[in-house]
Amino acid sequence: MKKLAVFVSGGGTNLQAIIDSAASGTLKNVEITAVFSSSRKAYALERADKAGIPSFCFVPKDFDSREAFTVAMLEKLRELKIDLIALAGYMVVLDPRIVREFQYRVVNIHPSLIPSFCGKGNYGIHVHENALARGVKLAGATTHLIDDGTDTGPIVLQKAIPVLDDDTPETLQKRVMKECEHQILPETIQLMADERLVVDGNRVFIR
Ligand code: GAR
Repeated sequence: MKKLAVFVSGGGTNLQAIIDSAASGTLKNVEITAVFSSSRKAYALERADKAGIPSFCFVPKDFDSREAFTVAMLEKLRELKIDLIALAGYMVVLDPRIVREFQYRVVNIHPSLIPSFCGKGNYGIHVHENALARGVKLAGATTHLIDDGTDTGPIVLQKAIPVLDDDTPETLQKRVMKECEHQILPETIQLMADERLVVDGNRVFIR
């Protein structure tokens, strides 16, 4: 059984997808051990409560320094003996120390087909605003392992859907979440838990 920590900042629909996959047995041999939130107001915290999952708020501005914030999180991750981390709508850049300690054991879900609409300023609804403004015909989501950059780590899974003529950023976001993100994030966690990912530079092979 692998112990998973899910990092959240907002609504937590991706957290919910992980909870639902575990409850239905689609996601196997993974215990959702904890939810880490960067905000006390995140609705994701209620979802964690409802599912009986312990949650911890690590809010950057509660700490004197970035260093203290990172050390506190690392201590909790070690205490809970966490194996895997899923960044599920987590809006804080992960400190290189956590990236190093959990090398290839942290997955992020991003709401575009990377390398489109990623990096600085491309998060949440902005990704879909930018995609529609550019007139792309395909949208989608990407799971990738975390490295020291923003949305630059090795890609694990991608799923695409067509953009519709009457899409707004909100309708596109909703479909990308439901039809792409909520499927490929639990799938990626399963692959990580089963130790099926082989990383070679930027490429990830599924064995
Ligand atoms: C999701 O669309 C996720 O892909 C995105 O934020 C949303 C969070 O929704 N993440 C990023 O933009 C990270 N760069 P949720 O809280 O309902 O899962």
